[in-house]
Amino acid sequence: MGRTLAIIGSGMIGAAVARLAVAAELDVVLSNSRGPQTLADLVGELGPRARAGTPAEAARAGDLVVAAIPLKAYDRLPAAALAGRTVIDTMNYYPDRDGRLAELDAGALTSSALVQRHLAESRVVKAFNNIDFRRLFTSARPAGAPDRSALPVAGDDPTAKTEAAALLDALGYDAVDIGTLADSWRTQPGTPVYVQPYMGERPEGLSQEEGQRWFFETPGVPVPAARVKELTAAARQK
Ligand SMILES: NC(=O)c1ccc[n+]([C@@H]2O[C@H](COP(=O)([O-])OP(=O)(O)OC[C@H]3O[C@@H](n4cnc5c(N)ncnc54)[C@H](OP(=O)(O)O)[C@@H]3O)[C@@H](O)[C@H]2O)c1
Repeated sequence: MGRTLAIIGSGMIGAAVARLAVAAELDVVLSNSRGPQTLADLVGELGPRARAGTPAEAARAGDLVVAAIPLKAYDRLPAAALAGRTVIDTMNYYPDRDGRLAELDAGALTSSALVQRHLAESRVVKAFNNIDFRRLFTSARPAGAPDRSALPVAGDDPTAKTEAAALLDALGYDAVDIGTLADSWRTQPGTPVYVQPYMGERPEGLSQEEGQRWFFETPGVPVPAARVKELTAAARQK
């Protein structure tokens, strides 16, 4: 794995990945839709390993690329700049936020297969989509730690999946290969491995404010590789 991680979409998930990457001594190039100058605070917080660019600049600079934008903008990912690269797709389909995408509603395609179709000359791997941004940061552990969690990876290119697994390992997670992009429905919203296992049970009867505090403070639950395998195997197509 190279040493520069490009991040397209530097919101909750992109920033969490960037923090873990800098802690793992990777260089990061961040990008968003509004321009590099709007990322100055985050770059300053991350320190000398971080810089910002446009999505295309980040794509060209990255040995690996993480796409963490709302799915509705998937067709604005810079396909030419991403050609030949491995792109880790963190995105999930939420119709209320993303609008209706007929092929996804029909179940004809997984969201990552749609992204792969747009990025026809890239190798797309789905990962980091089934853990919330807070637990993604706080549940990361060094290799071999007894409370290390695993995350599923799915993709059509075995080498790209190996690269993604190496990134997960560097950032603090084991990887479980769950198959191709067509198989990645097993980690989409509403499936057993989606978010809740990593977050744990939310206590009942919390006010909105208490719920928010719980979200930020609850330490999360380790989800080892064997559990990820069980949960993804238990998924049922709607
Ligand atoms: N939040 C979570 O816990 C979580 C967990 C797992 C997966 N995900 C998935 O990860 C993706 C990102 O979620 P998020 O919560 O991090 O979203 P977010 O906080 O709203 O951040 C989205 C980021 O994408 C950028 N962006 C939007 N359109 C873009 C474009 N065309 N080109 C480049 N950058 C663009 C935004 O930049 P501007 O602000 O400049 O527009 C922003 O930096 C979503 O698909 C989500 O479903 C989220």
